Amino acid sequence: MKKVPASSTLTLSTHLVLPENTNTLGNLMGGQLLNWLDIASAISAHRLCKRVVVTAAVNNVSFQHPIKLGDIVIIEAKVSRSFATSMEVFMDIYVEHHTTGERIKCNEAIYTFVAVDQLGSPIHVPEVLPESEEEIKRYDGALRRRQLRLILAGKMKPEEATELKALFD
Ligand SMILES: CC(C)(COP(=O)(O)OP(=O)(O)OC[C@H]1O[C@@H](n2cnc3c(N)ncnc32)[C@H](O)[C@@H]1OP(=O)(O)O)[C@@H](O)C(=O)NCCC(=O)NCCS
Repeated sequence: MKKVPASSTLTLSTHLVLPENTNTLGNLMGGQLLNWLDIASAISAHRLCKRVVVTAAVNNVSFQHPIKLGDIVIIEAKVSRSFATSMEVFMDIYVEHHTTGERIKCNEAIYTFVAVDQLGSPIHVPEVLPESEEEIKRYDGALRRRQLRLILAGKMKPEEATELKALFD
């Protein structure tokens, strides 16, 4: 199957933080950000395989800076690597301050999706072709991250995680 350039899965998603998205301190609720991330990354995974995709795991999200009412949140999602039926989507999250316009990168997040058929059974997806320096770095690291999440999910035995083990040899 022909490889698909990682850049063709790029998905940009921009949101204004409204009162209904915030807690009583005027900070964006974590669950709202997770929802925006889920949608942006699902579109990115769909752009790779053009099939129905389901969220298999939310792998890595931390909330390092409060995002305030009126701020603009920009999510850049791209498939970093695909495997047989699953895809890792890497996201960079930026916040544009509502009065200064200053844009800062506030977070990174990783979600895993699986392409499924109409009965919900996993189906094969195309391979990703990483081109930029950053795409290649994320592609290379994806195998280790996959092994770690499958161990944590009880779907892989630690002794089978050759890429992870190589880090400590
Ligand atoms: C995700 C799902 C399709 C996997 O189905 P499954 O029968 O467990 O399939 P398999 O064990 O054969 O795994 C299929 C792929 O999912 C990946 N996978 C399964 N569980 C995973 C997990 N916890 N984390 C990361 N990847 C996972 C496997 O590595 C495999 O990928 P690969 O084919 O690229 O190697 C199935 O569990 C499902 O439908 N889950 C619900 C999805 C959903 O509703 N999401 C919204 C949540 S509200």
